[in-house]
Amino acid sequence: MTDIRSVVRGVGSYLPARALTNADLAQIVDTSDEWIVQRTGIRERHIAADNELTSDLALHAARAALADAGMDAGDIDLIVLATSTPDNTFPATAVSVQAGLGITRGAAFDLQAVCSGFVFAVATADSFLKSGAFKRALVIGAETFSRILDWSDRTTCVLFGDGAGALVLEGVAAQDAGGRGVLTTHLRSDGRHKNKLYVDGGVSSTKTVGFLRMEGREVFRHAVGMITDVIVDAFEATGESAQTIDWFVPHQANRRIIDASAAKLGIASEKVVVTVDRHGNTSAASIPLALATAHADGRIKTGDLVLLEAMGGGFTWGSALIRW
Ligand code: UT7
Repeated sequence: MTDIRSVVRGVGSYLPARALTNADLAQIVDTSDEWIVQRTGIRERHIAADNELTSDLALHAARAALADAGMDAGDIDLIVLATSTPDNTFPATAVSVQAGLGITRGAAFDLQAVCSGFVFAVATADSFLKSGAFKRALVIGAETFSRILDWSDRTTCVLFGDGAGALVLEGVAAQDAGGRGVLTTHLRSDGRHKNKLYVDGGVSSTKTVGFLRMEGREVFRHAVGMITDVIVDAFEATGESAQTIDWFVPHQANRRIIDASAAKLGIASEKVVVTVDRHGNTSAASIPLALATAHADGRIKTGDLVLLEAMGGGFTWGSALIRW
């Protein structure tokens, strides 16, 4: 069997037009810009319009990624869309994106691993491309978390936002990839922690959508250790290190978790891509949003070694190391 690499061809993102600042939130709940910035680093988040669905955000991001790749939608034969806030219970939001792009071949499906969704989706698409089953994939993270927030709960509503990001991956014979591509992925989950970050409704349990509930301190307590474990796995699998990576693009949940993880791993602060201040925690969308920003502003370039990680509800956590 030919050795295949999943090479990044393009990246794109989308944030809804409406920005909600910390000052705006202080009008809704008992909070302050100072508290939110000091505890999380978040300054504003974006909120989807009433008629804007997760698939609409995803479509914008997918089109931007295709344009960046110089590809047409017809080149894509696989869509893996990570979301915890799908348009409907079914069908998958991915098929709305597929139809919106006019794609009638290949496969499209959703994947649910909450904030780790994008890393899980990269790993999934990478496996399919490496197997030769599909040739070019859109890997999307898209969320409308504003729809599952309890806007009277200050401990959660200040943290999350809406957005989408997408990556185009192409399966290329390893000898033609020039060392580029997804080098390794490491996925973990541990359901014993499922009640620390969850939504208190669902199809089978309450027949309602429910609201996000979180034991923030407990999530924080586990986050850094879980994140650093899967990054050490990635380094051990590849022989790379904190010194050899060019960019660290973590899940954008909280500035303090990002800084503590980078410090524990010995990753220099100038290699860390941080965009959480501009969009808050957008769950599965946060990594591709950060990737798109750092690619567009010229930081991430072809040949750079890019480390992704995420941790979230489940708990789920994972890492991916990519030669861009
Ligand atoms: O992808 C994973 C997603 N989740 C996360 O990343 C969350 C991880 N956890 C965290 O980031 C932090 O735990 C939080 C930012 C959620 C909270 O920070 P903390 O330093 O752990 O605060 P805390 O929960 O210990 O609360 C400290 C105080 C409490 O008041 P008292 O009991 O000390 O009087 C809270 O009621 O801060 C209060 N508080 C707030 N005050 C102003 C909680 N939320 C707010 C708020 N504004 N929005």
